[in-house]
Amino acid sequence: MNGLSVKHLLGIKYITKEDIELIFQTADNFKQVINRPIKKVPSLRDITIANLFFENSTRTKLSFELAEKRLSADVINFSASGSSVKKGETLLDTVNNILAMKVDMVVMRHPLPGAGQFLAKNIDAVIVNAGDGTHEHPTQGLLDAFSIRERYGEVAGKKVVIVGDILHSRVALSNIFTLQKLGAEVKVCGPATLIPKHVESLGVGYEPDLIKALEWCDVANMLRIQMERQDIQYFPSLREYTLQYGLNKNILDGLSKKITIMHPGPINRGVEVSSDVADSEQAIILDQVQNGVAIRMAVLYLLAGKID
Ligand code: CP
Repeated sequence: MNGLSVKHLLGIKYITKEDIELIFQTADNFKQVINRPIKKVPSLRDITIANLFFENSTRTKLSFELAEKRLSADVINFSASGSSVKKGETLLDTVNNILAMKVDMVVMRHPLPGAGQFLAKNIDAVIVNAGDGTHEHPTQGLLDAFSIRERYGEVAGKKVVIVGDILHSRVALSNIFTLQKLGAEVKVCGPATLIPKHVESLGVGYEPDLIKALEWCDVANMLRIQMERQDIQYFPSLREYTLQYGLNKNILDGLSKKITIMHPGPINRGVEVSSDVADSEQAIILDQVQNGVAIRMAVLYLLAGKID
């Protein structure tokens, strides 16, 4: 295959299975690079990338920046806090001012769903969505599926349950699209109030009982309860949520088989997973973080071929 089918990475919905496979093959090579004593390659020399973060981030921001530096790109970082956004500047004006500094690619996290699409329609740079509100977080979906492939050899045929706050989760949607395109079976589990009404129309099953969901799956992806996006109360209390949907070591050890535990971070220890589950040998949470750098290097490298 000759490069990606898209100019921007706005969501997994808009890319093909072949695109995902190409990103994974490229990430396999970059994973070898970042485990060498000399971790840097000159692939993006003379390319300038702006990381625009209008919303908080630890993993995604650091991971993109490291990926860009490993590829020898020139990098500028922008956070909405402390910027002129606070003085009323529009998104388009902010980005056009940054582009006037001759930027080739923009990596953007934004609280509004569709912010990446808006930029892609209005500016010339290549856009990478680093999470747009409750819509998509495509590189998270890619790194999660890549981590499953690394654990099991392939994604096709695997059973994955995504547990928790599906309603507010861009990670859930990008995971669903990625896993289904690669041939995995996906279910969601959580309180009915946190499950989108249309979820079954995506070909995703709903299992309200945590133990049944865990007995069914090979992999459980435990999501964070996103209090910052919840405008009303969706369950009685966090304690009640943890009693119904929190994964602890007793539950994990009581299952009839060993399953793999994932979490996109940041973890609320003691809420969606207990500390001994998060730190257990069945958890691949830090492998996900390590794979995030290789996946983001692959995405940036492949999209750099689309710069006009
Ligand atoms: N997984 C994830 O998106 O984490 P951050 O919000 O810290 O970037």
